[in-house]
Amino acid sequence: MGKIRGRKMSEDKSREIKNARETWDKRAHRFDKWYETFKGAAEHHVDWELLKRHLPQDRDAKILDAAGGTGRMTLPLAKMGYSVTLCDISPSMLKVARQKLLREKVLDKVEIFECDVRKLRFADESFDFVLCWDGGSQATEELIRVTKKGGKLSVSLVNRWGNAISEFREDPDSALALFRSKSNYVVHHGEKCMAVSVEEARQLFEKAGVRVIEIYAVYGGMLDLLSVPRKVQESRSWDERFFRQVTEMLLRLSEEPSVKGLSRHLFLYGERI
Ligand SMILES: C[S@@+](CC[C@H](N)C(=O)[O-])C[C@H]1O[C@@H](n2cnc3c(N)ncnc32)[C@H](O)[C@@H]1O
Repeated sequence: MGKIRGRKMSEDKSREIKNARETWDKRAHRFDKWYETFKGAAEHHVDWELLKRHLPQDRDAKILDAAGGTGRMTLPLAKMGYSVTLCDISPSMLKVARQKLLREKVLDKVEIFECDVRKLRFADESFDFVLCWDGGSQATEELIRVTKKGGKLSVSLVNRWGNAISEFREDPDSALALFRSKSNYVVHHGEKCMAVSVEEARQLFEKAGVRVIEIYAVYGGMLDLLSVPRKVQESRSWDERFFRQVTEMLLRLSEEPSVKGLSRHLFLYGERI
């Protein structure tokens, strides 16, 4: 019985990986384009500002960008002088990353690997800083394993309450299942992701040996909350002053406990103890 179940689980996993690879291979050529819109640029700005607060002082530090895709974060990190390892399941996303790093003359600062975040090819305690901004909740143990003791992690997680709120209009039953904790998963980018509340995220990582430094509320829904019109969110040119006002507001809201339930994603920063 055990063997059959084990085989079934590994078949499911390899089908999942194959699907994820196909999905992201198809999206690779247009992934970066989205960050040229007001919404994408605002999200990128917030992601980067939050990340900068936690980066190692030492520019010789080794950083892993797991599920790093087209190197959205690998590129600026390599430009700052860090040695970065970029890994991802999608060869096409990695190809885009490689071209960008080559163009920007920082390819020598980066090692690139095709691999699954749930089965990392690196030795224990290989990195001073590990970021994983997709699939992190399924790979908690692996991400912690490759982080040095005293090193830091940044993991994006799917927010249970923010997703329940935004799903309610389309599918009230699924939304309520998330609220009642009868369902712990949401489909995000076509993939099944574990959904956690701020408190569940804290417990998940603390149980696994991480001191949680901060959990930020980011992404989806926050611009609607500020009533930024859809037309502005999707536009590719904008008023700089308004952009600065919006991003300051997003950064302030990301830390505000009373609104943390409303975002669709959480970014957890912690230190491996
Ligand atoms: C939304 S993109 C994010 C890319 C990057 N982290 C960023 O923030 O710009 C998600 C990425 O996760 C990758 N991915 C999904 N599942 C993965 C897995 N199991 N192992 C490695 N990478 C995975 C995809 O190929 C894709 O490049």
